[in-house]
Amino acid sequence: MGLIWLPIMIPQWIIEKKRDGETLDPEELKFFIEGYTKGTIPDYQMAAMAMAIYFQGMSLDETATLTELMMNSGDLVDTSSIDKPKVDKHSTGGVGDKVSLLLAPLVACCGGAVPMISGRGLGITGGTLDKLESIPGYRVGLSDKEFVATIQACGCSMIGQTGQLAPADKKLYALRDVTATVPSIPLITASIMSKKLAEGIDGLVMDVKWGKGAFMRTYEDAQTLARTIVEVGTRMNKGMAALLTDMNQPLGLAAGNTVEVIESMEALKGNGPDDLMTVTLELCANMLTMVKIADSKKAAMEALQKQIDSGAAFECFKKMTELHGGDPRALDDYSLLPTASIQEDYVAPQDGFISEVSAEQVGRAVVVMGGGRSKTDDEIDHAVGITDIAKVGQRVARGDRLVTIHASDKGKLAEARKLLDKAFAFSDDEVTPPTLIKDVILPEER
Ligand code: URA
Repeated sequence: MGLIWLPIMIPQWIIEKKRDGETLDPEELKFFIEGYTKGTIPDYQMAAMAMAIYFQGMSLDETATLTELMMNSGDLVDTSSIDKPKVDKHSTGGVGDKVSLLLAPLVACCGGAVPMISGRGLGITGGTLDKLESIPGYRVGLSDKEFVATIQACGCSMIGQTGQLAPADKKLYALRDVTATVPSIPLITASIMSKKLAEGIDGLVMDVKWGKGAFMRTYEDAQTLARTIVEVGTRMNKGMAALLTDMNQPLGLAAGNTVEVIESMEALKGNGPDDLMTVTLELCANMLTMVKIADSKKAAMEALQKQIDSGAAFECFKKMTELHGGDPRALDDYSLLPTASIQEDYVAPQDGFISEVSAEQVGRAVVVMGGGRSKTDDEIDHAVGITDIAKVGQRVARGDRLVTIHASDKGKLAEARKLLDKAFAFSDDEVTPPTLIKDVILPEER
């Protein structure tokens, strides 16, 4: 009987290889990720590997292999019974980014299926699940069966992580957080994509945000991340596109939880602010063309606008809310949503053109009022937030409203005011508003 030769894998030799800038073989990555998930590779060796990757980077082949291994480290959602094209969106996160709440019903009404597994807010960036939980009764914790049934009934469902989805990422992300290895493009790519692709989708559009309120501070880093993600998804036979969008100032006019649900419902009823609608419709159009529901961007845009004008997209969100146990009446009668006891304006200290509205400071103001978390297990106050946020380029006179603050406590309101003092800058000269969508990255022709 012939012997099967198995290579001997010694963790420190593999770490050494990456440390010295060599390319890891798929078997070496498999040994590392499977071992780490099972616990046979300890945290200290994985931390050293993450640091080696941080400094040496990874080729696209290595990044794609890592993504696939992390995706397959746990359960995959079985969406095979859904016969529509399955497509989703992921945003790297920002302040006032409520796009998912509009996008899922819009794409669903146009004939797509949107199995959206979302996250909670952490730090200044809000989370879709927290926003949805502002709606009385809305359950984000559906079983896989309920998730698929909801998508079959209304075309979309928005839930929290189910079962054991990408457990390798869960463990590795927590480790990266405490070992200064989060800002690595291959590690971020594998982390985001392993979770998204476990949803069983045919296509994914990414909203890669850059700027003061974003995870990627510079445009160049955001561009590299977007290109890497598009390439890795394409190698895994998924339809891919990535938008590079500005997150120096908040998106839309509201930041918080209830206040963002209200802004989203108004947007679905046809009253959305321009910047929010521009980003949402561009992302939706890319989703529809990617999975061939629309044959051009123009056709996609027309189909999307119809879903708003006819009220279909709003009705779809209402139906999804009901299927999740939420009270759909709250989507028309906003007094049924959590409401803050204090509402006060914050006004312009001088005349001029607004040259800066810092998404970072606005996001922090929401966090200090209790609308965001500084630790993953913090409870949040859904009622607090900031609305009517003035925009870069707007001309104001001293005493004009720049925002309205919704607070539950006088002390926290005062803290929020201090942060808002740092959020705005003014110029005597006219200011051109920033370009919202700087680029759309599509897969290279093969
Ligand atoms: N979000 C993720 O899910 N993973 C990262 O590594 C960074 C942001």
